[in-house]
Amino acid sequence: MIATGSVGDGGTAAEYMVKRAARPPAAAPRSAPLDYGGGMDPEGKVIVVTGAAGGIGGALVRALLERGARTVVAADLDGAGVERLREELGAERVLPRVLDVADEQATRALVDDIAATVGAIDVWFANAGLATGSGPDAPDEEWNSQWRINVMSTCTPPVSFYRDGSSGARVTS
Ligand SMILES: NC(=O)c1ccc[n+]([C@@H]2O[C@H](COP(=O)([O-])OP(=O)(O)OC[C@H]3O[C@@H](n4cnc5c(N)ncnc54)[C@H](O)[C@@H]3O)[C@@H](O)[C@H]2O)c1
Repeated sequence: MIATGSVGDGGTAAEYMVKRAARPPAAAPRSAPLDYGGGMDPEGKVIVVTGAAGGIGGALVRALLERGARTVVAADLDGAGVERLREELGAERVLPRVLDVADEQATRALVDDIAATVGAIDVWFANAGLATGSGPDAPDEEWNSQWRINVMSTCTPPVSFYRDGSSGARVTS
């Protein structure tokens, strides 16, 4: 490294770096503990998990039931996958539904159906998604599909279920 010029107190850059290296290390900044406002208690709640047939979705459904959710609607393109969840976890509290989250009409229809048959939705886990692993030169069709599934589908449900006056919350993975 070539150090030229003067820094701050008039020394050269090399002198400055030698002085800085000799200083005791500054104490690591302490960040404030994260405040989640008490967290979300699933007890007694009606909760929708999209992408429920997948790894994170299935784990979410199990965890929410263990923590007392009243009903978990397990929605996915993969109907057989969510049906397996119902068989494993019980028909009383798991409602399997086939849903393409990129289909806004179908999403709204599911919201209406749940409101009419189960009750107002308290929490919507917008978890369905896909990672194609493709880069910037992917065809437009793929970009559009990612946009609809990974982005827009996380916006549609709250707009339609907040109107029910639920304690609506949305979580996106
Ligand atoms: N933020 C992060 O760092 C991070 C890390 C890992 C995963 N994720 C996201 O979390 C989500 C779940 O991850 P995973 O590892 O469980 O994935 P996964 O592939 O195991 O499950 C995804 C599920 O989504 C379903 N799905 C895909 N497209 C759908 C559609 N149009 N409509 C309905 N369902 C659809 C699939 O059938 C599948 O069951 C994904 O959205 C993923 O991108 C985020």
